[in-house]
Amino acid sequence: MATYAVKKWVYSLTIFVTTATVALGQQPIRYLEAKKLFVLDIGKVSYVFGINQHNELQHHYWGGRLWRDEDLPATLVSDAPGLDRQEYPGWGESLFSEPSLKVSFPDGNRAVVLHYVSHAIAGDTLTITLKDILSPLYAHLHYKIFPETGILRRDVTIENRTDTPVVIESAQSAAWSLPRGPGYRLRYLSGRWAGEWQLHEEPVQTGTQVLESRRGITSHQMNPWFALDRDDNRDQEKGDVWFGALGWSGNWKISVEQTPDLQVRVTGGYNTFDFAYRLPAKQSLTTPPFYAGYTEGGMGEASRILHRFERTEILPKPGADKVRQVLYNSWEATQFNVEEAGQEALADKAASIGAERFVMDDGWFGKRNNDHTGLGDWYVNPAKFPHGLKPLIDHVHRLGMDFGLWVEPEMVNPDSDLYRQHPDWAMHYDGRPRTESRNQLVLNMARDDVKEYTYQWLDQLVKNNDIAFLKWDNNRYFTEPGWPEVPAENQRMLWVKYTQNVYEILDRLRARYPKLEIETCASGGGRVDLSILRRVDQAWTSDNTEALDRLTIQDGFSYAYTPHVMMDWVTDVPNFNGRSVPLKFRFLVAMQGSLGIGADLNKWQDQDLTLAKEMIAYYKQVRNAVQNGLLYRLASPRQADWSATEYVAEDGSQAVVYSFLHSQHFGRSLPLLRLLGLEERGLYRIHRIDAKVADKSEVVSGAYLMHEGVGLSLEGDYDSTSFFLERIQP
Ligand code: DGJ
Repeated sequence: MATYAVKKWVYSLTIFVTTATVALGQQPIRYLEAKKLFVLDIGKVSYVFGINQHNELQHHYWGGRLWRDEDLPATLVSDAPGLDRQEYPGWGESLFSEPSLKVSFPDGNRAVVLHYVSHAIAGDTLTITLKDILSPLYAHLHYKIFPETGILRRDVTIENRTDTPVVIESAQSAAWSLPRGPGYRLRYLSGRWAGEWQLHEEPVQTGTQVLESRRGITSHQMNPWFALDRDDNRDQEKGDVWFGALGWSGNWKISVEQTPDLQVRVTGGYNTFDFAYRLPAKQSLTTPPFYAGYTEGGMGEASRILHRFERTEILPKPGADKVRQVLYNSWEATQFNVEEAGQEALADKAASIGAERFVMDDGWFGKRNNDHTGLGDWYVNPAKFPHGLKPLIDHVHRLGMDFGLWVEPEMVNPDSDLYRQHPDWAMHYDGRPRTESRNQLVLNMARDDVKEYTYQWLDQLVKNNDIAFLKWDNNRYFTEPGWPEVPAENQRMLWVKYTQNVYEILDRLRARYPKLEIETCASGGGRVDLSILRRVDQAWTSDNTEALDRLTIQDGFSYAYTPHVMMDWVTDVPNFNGRSVPLKFRFLVAMQGSLGIGADLNKWQDQDLTLAKEMIAYYKQVRNAVQNGLLYRLASPRQADWSATEYVAEDGSQAVVYSFLHSQHFGRSLPLLRLLGLEERGLYRIHRIDAKVADKSEVVSGAYLMHEGVGLSLEGDYDSTSFFLERIQP
């Protein structure tokens, strides 16, 4: 007992001394002049790098928080492997691993060797200027720390101070070096349309693993997120994890390399595929932001860190700290057959079960009776809405909901007035066939006239109608990414300019209409990343709304992105896979993020509508914990015939549990569900939605719920339940 007390005292003293050192003037970002080291203290994380004997910027440390600068080396020395630890290497000298910068000069010289020039520390940011040894080509490395979450943001501005244009062939945002050693495992998200967000894992081996999009948008196939852990650790809640997410909605690339000396590096930024950015004299190009963090709390904590970071630092404010509304969306119910009376009837039903927002999807404009025609003609279809949108919007408002509308601003059907007037506005190569996908072409948003036209009609649409929400869709990838109107040597700037202009339209709309909310959608989850999320309020996760598939889709999504933005609809059955699961199961699956309804409510029976009303009322009681709380994965939908998630409100006042039995085998009952993230000494009142929680106690302690667990009597196929805990003490 006495030993324990002494140990505790020593421990407290250590914490005090550590904190005091920081309080007594240790800046979270500091330059140790004598050692030429930069030390970044980012909450529970430290990141250290410095200037080596060749005047290059060399990485030293990234991991748990250090507290003693004296421990750091007196000088950073680059040995041969040291080349692979540069913070931002140009392609030059004997660098054979992934460069951060590759440039072609007009005289044919293609070597860049970046040396340290200067630095500036301003609060939570650090800028380091590097310069090529032989030309006035500069790289300004920006570091910003987020101590609340331990996240470090990096991006780089390449500045051409020469007198001629240079061609940038690779501009990466950051190279992240991990502690040298074996046993790393890479996790990443890949998939396809209607099957996005599948979590993959593979060992890191000597060589390079490339995650990328070459499709013009973020893509369904790969998402710009990675996580690396070590030693085959399977515990969601323990172990080292280094993770990161790149904010770019165009072509991106993340390379995970391991050298023969077991140095693991993650380099990410603009995809180098077909990349050639002609940077005029005296101009600059800034890379996308690359955010990364570290935790010793396993994949579970890595996700929670990202979720909190996204809510507090990425998503537009206000909004990120509020709860998302329950919305109704017309797409699966009516497809293109939208018209005033039908939409009003759906709105009546949606309001009666508790929806708060009514969104009319595709089909309301031009001659849009199917997906062959009308895209680009953004006037209200007079046959479907003879009096414009106002009567429907007024009707929706009278029902107490706000109104949202679907748009797909970047696309055009060849069968449209817009295309007939401006065939040159579509991305194309002169004289070559234009590949259609979903019968549409991509408007070349890199062109400023196309961008301006698009902004203007969106502005008019929002100005002239009482619209609270836009669902911004994008239903195809780029092909023939030509831009014949500019000189050939500038055409490949389209890869960057297109996305920059889409961002500009969104930024201007948001600035002009601060209350307008926007959803990112690209045939489901094809455009979700940290830079689009700076400009939107929520994301359409997948066009696959089939509840069983949805469990893995949502689970994968949650590794990188917060449930706050993860839109999930309850839809009709049979759905994808020809599968029919019970309505309650569908509701509980969709309640694991931001809830929506996408079913044809006119076909629902009274008992369905009654259940829906109860479920939505339940969801409203728990949605703050789900959307803005801490997610614990209790049982993965990928590893077992059952799964469970738990969400704990940030202030600990509530915890919500969902459990799903996908398919019962051998009459087996579920193991006890041991909860996480509760207060051992806390007392919790259990609120059940049904009789499937075996324990009938009213009040249970956190210790019991976490150590013994909760028995659930689920049986058969597609059984499900949920309960929430209200903390009543202390
Ligand atoms: C693709 C989206 O993902 C769907 O939700 C729907 O909006 C359709 N486009 C409409 O064309």
